[in-house]
Amino acid sequence: MNAPNKSINENIASSLIEEDKLVVDISELQDRCASNNIFVTQPYLPPLEEFFPYLEKIWDNKILTNGGPYHQQLEKALCEYLGVEHLALFTNGTIALVTALQALRITGEVITTPYSFVATAHSLLWNGIKPVFVDIDPNTLNLDPAKIEAAITPQTTAILPVHCYGHPCDVKAIQKIADIYNLKVIYDAAHAFGVQTESGSVLKYGDLSVLSFHATKVFNTFEGGAIVCPDAKTKQRIDHLKNFGFVDELTVVAPGINGKMSELNAAFGLLQLQHIDHAVARRKEIDSIYREKLKNVKGIRCLQDAGEKVQNYSYFPILVEKDFPISREELYQKFKDKNIFARRYFYPLISDFPMYRGMPSAHKENLSVATNAASKVLCLPIYPALTPDEQQRIIEVIAHN
Ligand SMILES: Cc1ncc(COP(=O)(O)O)c(C=O)c1O
Repeated sequence: MNAPNKSINENIASSLIEEDKLVVDISELQDRCASNNIFVTQPYLPPLEEFFPYLEKIWDNKILTNGGPYHQQLEKALCEYLGVEHLALFTNGTIALVTALQALRITGEVITTPYSFVATAHSLLWNGIKPVFVDIDPNTLNLDPAKIEAAITPQTTAILPVHCYGHPCDVKAIQKIADIYNLKVIYDAAHAFGVQTESGSVLKYGDLSVLSFHATKVFNTFEGGAIVCPDAKTKQRIDHLKNFGFVDELTVVAPGINGKMSELNAAFGLLQLQHIDHAVARRKEIDSIYREKLKNVKGIRCLQDAGEKVQNYSYFPILVEKDFPISREELYQKFKDKNIFARRYFYPLISDFPMYRGMPSAHKENLSVATNAASKVLCLPIYPALTPDEQQRIIEVIAHN
């Protein structure tokens, strides 16, 4: 933006400096990609030639978006793969979260976790809803059902928990509370693609579940997302809301948004789906090696599953405890010095960001478990293309202290 009290030339000069900075940043980025850097994740991409036939079809039929054939096929294929009845594709998980809240007409206050990616709570603010943060369980790092009731007020209308790292929340305990207080439950299931409990897909719990297909996720469509819903009527409302509120050519029933997934992303999703089992299997191998090699390292706690029957191995979080020789920050830096970019998911807590920290529920005393986890967590690189040598490099940084 142009500063009002600068001359036009000064403004041009400063924008050129900005452009220079951009050039430097891009070349730095290229260097980083070319070197032996290991990032926390790397998107899974099928062989490029397998995508060409999909592109040719799009070029032939000239349908680029608005619920075209690939969009319809992917919705059907995902329902089958995930074992759910109805699913609406979206342009990304955040717009899907915002729309899910609108679909159920959620207002007032919503109970949620501070230990997540900011989009969880941002979706509430985008709807003019007040987030009420409740602390997490020390074992699963998911919303602690035992602490929900104390946070319910007459304004509370819903609970927005997250299946953090793809480990299911205590869905039965949460539903019990929701039933008693007549609250809706929307799961942020951004991490939970393909996860199953004893009774099938974790996405069937609650009133709605929201997935993200962002590049960093187990199943990606470059950008993308979906809402899983229990009945055709709710899907129809969601489909209207993601298309500006249009019901037909002349009728708009709500101030909907443009949340539609394009044909390009949907086609890519169909191709990804053919490779997903292989990608998850490779993640599982990496997960087992980390667990085996780190099990006797004093002061390193690997987060356990939450009792799910089928996992997706989307993240590999470790907790750097007090009896580890160096702090979490020192370990994070040590990794960086060796070109390994582990990530502190989730630190800072959502409740520490400026738009939330003034809220009474954001106080640290209210969120001691989440505060403690955020100070100790480090997510190690995990993705199908991670080689055994690269994984060994990562393990050695932790083991040699
Ligand atoms: C827990 C959680 N919720 C929501 C989102 C938002 O999804 P998207 O990036 O597809 O908008 C993400 C990740 O990006 C996430 O990790």
